[in-house]
Amino acid sequence: MKLRRPSLRRRLGIVSAAAVAVAVVGVSLAAWLLLRDQLSDVVNERLNRQVGFAIKIDSAGMQVPAPDGGPDTPLYQTVFADGSWLAPTGQAAIPVSATDREVARRERYESTEDVKINSTSYRVLTRWIHTKQTGPNGRAVQIAIDLSEMNNTLGRFGLILALTGSVGIIAAGVLGYLLTRAGLRPVDRVIAAAEHVASTQDLRAAVPVESNDPDEVTRVADSMNSMLSALDASREAQRRLVEDASHELATPLTSLRTNVDLMLRAENHPSRRLAPEDRQRLLIDVQAQMRELDHLIDEVVELARDPRSDEETTPLDLAAVVRSAVARARTRTPQVEFQIDAESVEISGRTGALERAVLNLLDNAAKWGPADAPVDVSVRRQASGAVVCVADRGPGVPTADLQRVFERFHRAPEARSMPGSGLGLAIVRQVVLAHGGRAWLTPRDGGGTQAWIELPSPGRGTARLSECGLTH
Ligand SMILES: Nc1ncnc2c1ncn2[C@@H]1O[C@H](COP(=O)(O)OP(=O)(O)OP(=O)(O)O)[C@@H](O)[C@H]1O
Ligand SMILES: [Mg+2]
Repeated sequence: MKLRRPSLRRRLGIVSAAAVAVAVVGVSLAAWLLLRDQLSDVVNERLNRQVGFAIKIDSAGMQVPAPDGGPDTPLYQTVFADGSWLAPTGQAAIPVSATDREVARRERYESTEDVKINSTSYRVLTRWIHTKQTGPNGRAVQIAIDLSEMNNTLGRFGLILALTGSVGIIAAGVLGYLLTRAGLRPVDRVIAAAEHVASTQDLRAAVPVESNDPDEVTRVADSMNSMLSALDASREAQRRLVEDASHELATPLTSLRTNVDLMLRAENHPSRRLAPEDRQRLLIDVQAQMRELDHLIDEVVELARDPRSDEETTPLDLAAVVRSAVARARTRTPQVEFQIDAESVEISGRTGALERAVLNLLDNAAKWGPADAPVDVSVRRQASGAVVCVADRGPGVPTADLQRVFERFHRAPEARSMPGSGLGLAIVRQVVLAHGGRAWLTPRDGGGTQAWIELPSPGRGTARLSECGLTH
């Protein structure tokens, strides 16, 4: 079974509690050890004093009196070299260890040990004494001090430390949790907004940003909002393209259907049989309409393609791309003369897409230009990049339409009798914009149209031109 990972706020609560716990345990342990050492020193000092006192009494040949039973009274005992011992009457005996016997035998000066006497903890100091009465071997004096009070104090202190520490740790955990909960509230808002978008598919619903939101949250919300509006724009563009395309596809389809219906009806009624030349004309019409439909579908597919994702951007010579487009245009419209004057310019771009864009300009020039005037094509290097110009001697585009002809399906009224669907320049604009460039039309001196494509060299801006083939 896979365990669910705790939420961020719970994890931060645990982390802050753990950090406080480490600090509290460290400080408490240090304080407790310090106190133990201090109390132990006090006991050791007392033992020293008491043993000196006992030695004095012993040396004077006096009997140390039995303790009065008070908890503070130390125990006293004399240990002899043979291990036997003598304690004041009525006093509990101090256990004699091997080390104590070593002291009594003068093998060591003194020893300190913690022992249990009648289940009470004592610290025992055994020290060798040598007086006239003791003979050459001497003997040892033992003093035992009750450690209960020291242990009780240490126990109480430990308990207080444990209690305050635990309260501190719990408080740190709860506080950490509450603080992160308050801190993460703006994140919750962002999550709620994202979930709302996911469930309603409403890309126009923006993630709210409040003035007191932390910087990180504002940035997340801002980038989500830009992502949403980019998605919305792209979905809107796709929707419009589908609507426009289905509308435009309907026209050639209708005339195609009409022609086919006409021929079928003529076939089914022997009396209304078409004359062979009418039939031939209708078939040629159908063929032209099918070609039109084919062209239209190609263009719609081209426009629907994401301009950024299909082809790799590489360094390329724009003159070579334009020459290749001209070669294709010559095979498409062999009756039209194309004059090319191309300067080599290296730019970075997508060869296929750029060639399709230039070919669309050449198609237009060939379509509208008179058969006896050549189409002039030039490629020029610019400080800012490169410029392609395609100039014809056709009827020109009305000034009012110069911008609008780049919109999808827009055709100047005079052009409506010509084949085409009005997508060519929209494709040009899409490709050129994706390359960071511009495309526009200008009237040509002496009549005709000049179509321009300007593409930046990597890292350069663009500058406007006015005359085809000339650099300004
Ligand atoms: N060289 C030109 N001379 C005159 N008019 C032009 C020229 N180029 C474009 N236009 C005008 O701009 C309109 C849009 O051109 P665009 O290339 O987008 O469409 P199209 O050529 O009509 O159809 P498609 O290119 O989709 O086959 C044309 O219909 C025409 O009115
Ligand atoms: Mg065109």
